[in-house]
Amino acid sequence: MIFNTVLLNVQSPKNVGMIIRSHVAFNGNKIVFVGYDKPWNFKHGSQAFSRKLESKCDILNFKEESEFFEWSKKNELLNLAIEIDESATNITEYEFQHNCNLILGSEGKGIEKEFLQKCDDVLFIPQFGTVECLNVSISASIAQFEFCRHQNYPVNSISGSTFKVENQASSPNS
Ligand SMILES: C[S@@+](CC[C@H](N)C(=O)[O-])C[C@H]1O[C@@H](n2cnc3c(N)ncnc32)[C@H](O)[C@@H]1O
Repeated sequence: MIFNTVLLNVQSPKNVGMIIRSHVAFNGNKIVFVGYDKPWNFKHGSQAFSRKLESKCDILNFKEESEFFEWSKKNELLNLAIEIDESATNITEYEFQHNCNLILGSEGKGIEKEFLQKCDDVLFIPQFGTVECLNVSISASIAQFEFCRHQNYPVNSISGSTFKVENQASSPNS
């Protein structure tokens, strides 16, 4: 099974960079930008956090939400909104059983109700402390990890204090 990571109007270059890095670490399939007029321009603000790993990613851009939903339907992908909502399911109890899009919302607005209603499921990450929500890139990492945790993928071997990878990406900030 595969997952794609979908950024719905995420604005901060730092968040985009961090999401890309986790997407690659958790072996995601495509990175999908939704709601952007132009494809994301990866400059230093993102690359300092992505380690330029976007070069390893297959990236799609949909300006309109409707185009995104058409594409996902055509590719038989389940749309899983990662969001705090009264209708949401606890992600730790969710059975990932289908190729899916993990959809993250923007820093300011999150994922709006109208969009949530078009998704197949809404999943929340449980919180226990005194803050209303998580940072979007942290949420992406947790959702990607939860997806992988259900797949029983063979884990990369460790060499020293890092994981061994076939093609080590350049690392501007280690
Ligand atoms: C900073 S939050 C959005 C702002 C929030 N809606 C508000 O009213 O302040 C950005 C995104 O992070 C994700 N997110 C943050 N905390 C989450 C949680 N506990 N469970 C699921 N998603 C979360 C969602 O995708 C959300 O759209």
